[in-house]
Amino acid sequence: MTGCPTAPDSRHHPPAPPVHVERRPVDEEESRRANGPDWDRYADEYQLTHGAFLGDAGFVWGPEGLTEDEAGVLGDVRDRDVLEVGSGAGQCSRWVVARGGRGIGLDLSHRQLQHSRRLDEETGVHAPAVRGTATALPFADDSFDVVFSSFGALQFVADLDVAVAETARVLRPGGRYAFSITHPTRWVFPDDPGEDGLTARQSYWDRRPYVEVDEESGEVSYVEHHRTLGDWVAVLARHGFAVTTLLEPEWPDDHDRVWGGWSRLRGRLTPGTAVVGADLLDGARG
Ligand SMILES: C[S@@+](CC[C@H](N)C(=O)[O-])C[C@H]1O[C@@H](n2cnc3c(N)ncnc32)[C@H](O)[C@@H]1O
Repeated sequence: MTGCPTAPDSRHHPPAPPVHVERRPVDEEESRRANGPDWDRYADEYQLTHGAFLGDAGFVWGPEGLTEDEAGVLGDVRDRDVLEVGSGAGQCSRWVVARGGRGIGLDLSHRQLQHSRRLDEETGVHAPAVRGTATALPFADDSFDVVFSSFGALQFVADLDVAVAETARVLRPGGRYAFSITHPTRWVFPDDPGEDGLTARQSYWDRRPYVEVDEESGEVSYVEHHRTLGDWVAVLARHGFAVTTLLEPEWPDDHDRVWGGWSRLRGRLTPGTAVVGADLLDGARG
């Protein structure tokens, strides 16, 4: 493909139908209608390919392999209510539960949630999970101490303002929000782990989403949304968060994994992942 960088490996499975790539606005409903089935189709291969790297009860922030044990972005989760948005097979939520937190996951993909249930059974560490979307969290106000996403959901939603407002709503005052995303600077490069992925091809400020369209039906079959670093800070500030952390994990010397557009070649030169941490200010919701 010649498009822009995407969530790790999400485009590196044979799409069921032939697709072509467009760059154009796509609204929230269309994004959700495309991405839910896309993750359902891809879930088996994703877990087979990356499950061991993620660890059944492990917490990795991205393809560089930075773990939450190393990073400590969430703070202490013991006895805390912790929501993972875009939880996939729940590896990170299981890490939370294993450390004494009350972890719960939410994901759009039914098939990803089936894998989550399977890993609960296999590990004996149970992380409950519900089906839903980041833009309409099915929880009461002030339900959680921590909300996080490790490459989950945020790049797939069109209404980022709504998703962040929902996070602020379900967090308790002073609560912690943390997430990892494709580093926004990656969007200028083709999504290629090799030499071709080192040449900037499009503007960092071009916010038009990356869209795959099914050649047969004409329907959108996959969407990712790009925001600049400034956009991320602004949306967090609008909803009462103070940003405290921005990690840009370096590619470790001994790390040779290729994961979608992430590779040692590119990772030694340019950041592939951004990990953001923010606190919900007291009284931010009025
Ligand atoms: C790259 S995976 C990340 C999951 C997990 N942290 C991992 O590393 O495997 C992205 C997940 O986000 C989910 N997702 C996509 N759009 C979503 C939405 N609008 N709301 C909730 N989850 C969503 C997908 O179904 C998928 O499981």
